[in-house]
Amino acid sequence: MDKLIITGGVPLAGEVAISGAKNAALPILCASLLTAEPLRVDNLPHLNDISTMLRLLAQMGVEVTLDGPAGLVLDAGGLNNPLAPYDLVKTMRASILVLGPLVARCGEARVSLPGGCAIGARPVDQHIKGLQAMGAEVTVEAGYVHAKAKRLKGARICTDMVTVTGTENLMMAAVLADGETIIENAAREPEVVDLANCLVAMGANISGAGTDVIRIRGVERLDGAAHRIMPDRIETGTYLCAAAATGGEVRLTQTSAAYLDAVVDKLMDAGCDIVTERDAIRLKAPQRLKAVSLRTAPYPAFPTDMQAQFMAINAVADGVATIRETIFENRFMHANELMRLGADIQIEGSNAIVRGVERLEGATVMATDLRASASLVIAGLVARGETTIDRIYHLDRGYERIEEKLAKLGARVRRAH
Ligand code: UD1
Repeated sequence: MDKLIITGGVPLAGEVAISGAKNAALPILCASLLTAEPLRVDNLPHLNDISTMLRLLAQMGVEVTLDGPAGLVLDAGGLNNPLAPYDLVKTMRASILVLGPLVARCGEARVSLPGGCAIGARPVDQHIKGLQAMGAEVTVEAGYVHAKAKRLKGARICTDMVTVTGTENLMMAAVLADGETIIENAAREPEVVDLANCLVAMGANISGAGTDVIRIRGVERLDGAAHRIMPDRIETGTYLCAAAATGGEVRLTQTSAAYLDAVVDKLMDAGCDIVTERDAIRLKAPQRLKAVSLRTAPYPAFPTDMQAQFMAINAVADGVATIRETIFENRFMHANELMRLGADIQIEGSNAIVRGVERLEGATVMATDLRASASLVIAGLVARGETTIDRIYHLDRGYERIEEKLAKLGARVRRAH
């Protein structure tokens, strides 16, 4: 299993390009299932989760052709097998995103219940409830969701909580339904908007994406289109944190601060200078950061996917920070690993109290989930001596060429097998 070995203590400096957003790319790849015409997607990140999704689509009969360094053409003209088997789904929860498009286009789908990060129970009841409201017959048997509907019907759906992939799945199901669907309590995440933009380019009739009420008027069929994936705001935030924690100065290109207000605000509170350009962000860190408390919540509030990285920066900041996680019930697994490096963290239910220490010391730690791994990388970059991060396959699910990008910023980091 691959490990990352980091020798800490180097302030990150220089420029690095941000990749396309994993969490926008995954639903957009699934949108190809909705049409028999080719969908061209650009700015795709090279990540294990993307490869898994492509394998999943290919075994359903989608033809995938490379088109340039970060582009693909997906042709679901020959879609013949609306099945997502356990083998492919088990490593990636986002596989559930094939459910809505498959029922909409094929009238039937069998999708294994998803796996993914071990950060909480993460059920898919809202996806199922929404499809049922649209007239699908849904059964869950032997670990598979089986959904059937001759043609889905427009419906008014109010999800019990804000769910990102739930909103995306139901939006994709609704674009081919008969009549109007209204999704209330919809997720407002920018990735939902990116998907909606792609669907609209394919001929869908959607309004309100980016607000908590999305209206979709179903159409008979969708066409092909070309779509460029938005920049990854979580990768952007992670590199900003890495620069902040190491006292560095970086410029991140091919990205935008537009979707990162909550994160940028906290970094400024911590004492960083941030300048936003049209397609880039610059950050200059102070000698020592100030502790910043935060609470995760659905967009536009502070993202749960940045919580672990802020735990790492608070570990070496001046003062005490309280971090409250409200989205996932088991998302503090990085705390124990950070403590192995000398961090002072106390967990009380869904609150973490982080007391900044003078310095962290290198050690061997284990990555437990995707964003937890990112926090360990940040801590390793700050710690004195060598930090070995085990099980970095989690990291490879969501960060493109992380060791290359960090090395470009001057970090001493290498991958070992
Ligand atoms: C997406 C993101 C993930 C991010 C999360 C929250 C993708 C591929 N992943 O995950 O990186 O951390 O949003 O911003 O976009 N829930 C239910 N029933 C459901 C659906 C959700 O109880 O049917 C609960 C979940 O357990 C969780 C909360 O709702 O507690 C939010 O989850 P959700 O927004 O669905 O997360 P994902 O879409 O899986």
